[in-house]
Amino acid sequence: MKKLRFALSLALFTGMPLLSQSQTTDVLESPDGHLQVRLATDTEGHLSYEVNYKDLAVIRPSRLGFLLEKPHMRLQRFLVLDRQNASADTTWEPVLGEVARIRNHHNELALELQDATGSGIRVMVRFRVFDDGVGFRYEFPDQEALDHFIIKEEVTEFALAGDHKAFWIPGDYDTNEYLYNTTRLSDIAALDAVARERDIAISSPIGDNAVQTPLMLVADNGLYINVHEAALVNYSTMNLVLDKATLTFRSHLVPDAVGNKGYLQTPAHTPWRTLVISDTPEAILASKLILNLNEPSQIEDTSWIRPQKFMGVWWEMHIGKGSWDLASGNHAANTENVKKYIDFASEHGIDGVLVEGWNEGWEDWFGNWKEDVFDFVTPYPDYDLDELTAYAATKGVSLIMHHETSGSVTNYERRMDRAFQYMKAHGMHTVKTGYVGKIIPRGEHHDGQWMNNHYIRVARKAAEYQIMVEAHEPSHPTGLHRTYPNWLANEAARGNEFNNAPALGITPEHQTILPFTRLMGGPMDFTPGLFHFKLNQFVPERTTVVRTTLAKQLALYVTMYSPLQMAGDLPENYRKHPEAFRFIVDVPVNWQDTRILEAVSGEQVIIARKDKESEDWYVGGITDEQERTARITFDFLNKGQSYMATLYKDGPKAHWDHNPEAHTIETRMLRHGTPLKVTMAEGGGFAIKVKAVK
Ligand code: NOJ
Ligand code: CA
Repeated sequence: MKKLRFALSLALFTGMPLLSQSQTTDVLESPDGHLQVRLATDTEGHLSYEVNYKDLAVIRPSRLGFLLEKPHMRLQRFLVLDRQNASADTTWEPVLGEVARIRNHHNELALELQDATGSGIRVMVRFRVFDDGVGFRYEFPDQEALDHFIIKEEVTEFALAGDHKAFWIPGDYDTNEYLYNTTRLSDIAALDAVARERDIAISSPIGDNAVQTPLMLVADNGLYINVHEAALVNYSTMNLVLDKATLTFRSHLVPDAVGNKGYLQTPAHTPWRTLVISDTPEAILASKLILNLNEPSQIEDTSWIRPQKFMGVWWEMHIGKGSWDLASGNHAANTENVKKYIDFASEHGIDGVLVEGWNEGWEDWFGNWKEDVFDFVTPYPDYDLDELTAYAATKGVSLIMHHETSGSVTNYERRMDRAFQYMKAHGMHTVKTGYVGKIIPRGEHHDGQWMNNHYIRVARKAAEYQIMVEAHEPSHPTGLHRTYPNWLANEAARGNEFNNAPALGITPEHQTILPFTRLMGGPMDFTPGLFHFKLNQFVPERTTVVRTTLAKQLALYVTMYSPLQMAGDLPENYRKHPEAFRFIVDVPVNWQDTRILEAVSGEQVIIARKDKESEDWYVGGITDEQERTARITFDFLNKGQSYMATLYKDGPKAHWDHNPEAHTIETRMLRHGTPLKVTMAEGGGFAIKVKAVK
């Protein structure tokens, strides 16, 4: 090794490019030996990786490297200076989660590389191989040859081994609130026209062959491959652009306002590029690879971080009962109305009440691109926050703050400290942030490096005040809730509220795809629990409908993991179905254990979870637009223990379109191994509470 270093420095000294390379190959295997990564350089120094699972090709040889803007050069040909192997087998406990303990078991290989064109730049490529997949990233160590630098593009390839079935949304710089398309890879563009028709928001700034991650792929040979990224910190979000001829995706980072893709200073590293791989779909949903590739909690005392359920002065504005702004004369966030929500939440043991439209600015919040539209500390005159703070305290309920930035993010950053102090002064410890509209004043993108850092700055600043956060309209989550456990959840996908968007909406299959895509990166604020399906309750001419059954809305509390779950509908709509609402009251939002019983992306998802605090289990099942029968064997229950199950299921004639409310509730005893059949209606589902009894 020493000799090689010497030869290198000689070449550098003489300014001679090192053109003749020797080929290298390194192999790394998963702990169980099923997954194999092969890293190779060719005679010109091009570096590539290849992944096989049980002798099936997952990723064919694919290039790794960078185009730099400053210094202006290609960083794609390397000399291998050194290689380091490592392995780990540890267990850690998430603050909140789907399981109480997570095993991090992997083998690692780091290649120390030097640019072969004579710049002297050193790069590390680090691979970790787990039994359930692969993660890799680039690292730029502290060095003389590279200090501040600008990325033009990351050139990471994913050459796929077949024309797989793909669950995808179009590439974008600013939104992920799409319906998923299901096509062969080769049809990604062909279907774009259909997608456009179905979903008028589609117009990818990247082009017709671009998709976002998490991208779920299903191969004809029964392999399941999920492509995403972990620990997206100080870097731009990765989109993928497909070369149809070779079925190869290439990374496409989100640019900043002037087209650059990243500003880094050594030492620096990229996020992990992740491939979750299995021969069963259930194992994809059970994978903890993305969390394992994130850093442990940076918050030392996490005792104040709590899982929560909440209601909101929210849906009534979406469906036109009230309004966010005061000038309309129909202002929903008034003291009396908020008290009604507090009363209802208190009666039902719901922890929080979100209040949107509480602050001045909503007359002019959208489309005018004014920087100072919100100051986050000035309530409307009909909203008496002091009175409500006192009232909520007597009722054991917390108010949840709303900070809609309307894309004016530098304004928000300037005011964040005061805004959080204001919250603390009013006993609030959770905030919903929002980023509707274009990011002003600089025209950054929602998914670019600057905004990705902003979301983290908010989580960190909030933690200083012991405040929990959930963001709407952020970039795709990448497991950072491990590192910032006060960052409870995100929207970052098309949520329940889109049922109310004319011409857009949600299809019955959507919720069965989300666990395989969006949720791979972390909890979603999907806002389940809509009990009223025709959304013309207050505006008769409105034609929008919620495209699920009521039982499916209940099931989502189990199938859609989040430590922060909303009961989305209005108190008056819940009062019509108090027995069904009981499930929302009872269902926990923090778990000891999770079993993915059956899951097929785009068809059905059935999950059982064990309460973190008791021996009780909860099961949720959902289907797409097809009726299906779920067959559950309760082999996860304790032997010798009796359980009382309460089943919330679709009524015999339930149907998402013409009979969504029909549901039946029944009870029965269960033991370890009891089999149970439940029919899910078209667009339906079921929820079961399984209570351990003496
Ligand atoms: C979009 C969010 O997704 C929604 O939940 C919120 O009510 C509106 N923006 C207003 O902030
Ligand atoms: Ca949104």
